[in-house]
Amino acid sequence: MKTFITLDNVKRRNIPENLQSDDNRYSESLVEHFLALYTKPGNIVLDMFVGLGTTLFVAEEMGRIPYGIEYDEARYKYVRSHLVNKENLTHGDSRKLSTFNLPEIDFSMTSPPYMMKEHAENPLTAYTQPGTYHRYLDELQAVFTQLKPMLKLDAYVVVEVSNLRGNGVTTLAWDVGRALSRVLRFEGEVVVGWRGEDEGEGTYGHDHSYCLVFTNSK
Ligand SMILES: C[S@@+](CC[C@H](N)C(=O)[O-])C[C@H]1O[C@@H](n2cnc3c(N)ncnc32)[C@H](O)[C@@H]1O
Repeated sequence: MKTFITLDNVKRRNIPENLQSDDNRYSESLVEHFLALYTKPGNIVLDMFVGLGTTLFVAEEMGRIPYGIEYDEARYKYVRSHLVNKENLTHGDSRKLSTFNLPEIDFSMTSPPYMMKEHAENPLTAYTQPGTYHRYLDELQAVFTQLKPMLKLDAYVVVEVSNLRGNGVTTLAWDVGRALSRVLRFEGEVVVGWRGEDEGEGTYGHDHSYCLVFTNSK
């Protein structure tokens, strides 16, 4: 596994104005990298935190079959309107993943909503309900616990996450890695150096992020 890659921090797709203020997409090139590595045409690709749809759009472009869940209605509507496989996108809460009717998954790639340790709103409710950092990590782990039986035995799971500079540093990448390692087998991290990112907001004070790679062999 190549453990350090450098990519341009460029998003090719234009998004509507009402969604631009909270544009936390990863680049299409990141999804292309992992889809080329771990999937083949016709594979089922799942993103439990669809956001603005990068995983699903690139999967479709590369001849994979995308499935996804998104909590936020405006994002859901935007992604659905541009997806060919519209019926594969669910407007819902991934904390209830096991209740959705999904096929066997060949590969999953996602970036969950992030939380700083000092914050008090639960990102898994679009920050509308109170929450603690520990509860957030527990709930995130529970999503992947539900994912595990849906995965093919040889499936890979890639989770993009950063440590966060705020009031000190929230070691989100380490903490998510530890939490998900209780459920899936951790194969290692890929450090992604972002060209054109000058320690800006987009990468939470860093010019790199991590892709944590797991397999379903635990
Ligand atoms: C970091 S963004 C994902 C961005 C995405 N990778 C992209 O490139 O567009 C995380 C997304 O998860 C969604 N989300 C938050 N809680 C959720 C939940 N419980 N179930 C499903 N989606 C959720 C948020 O609304 C947000 O759009």
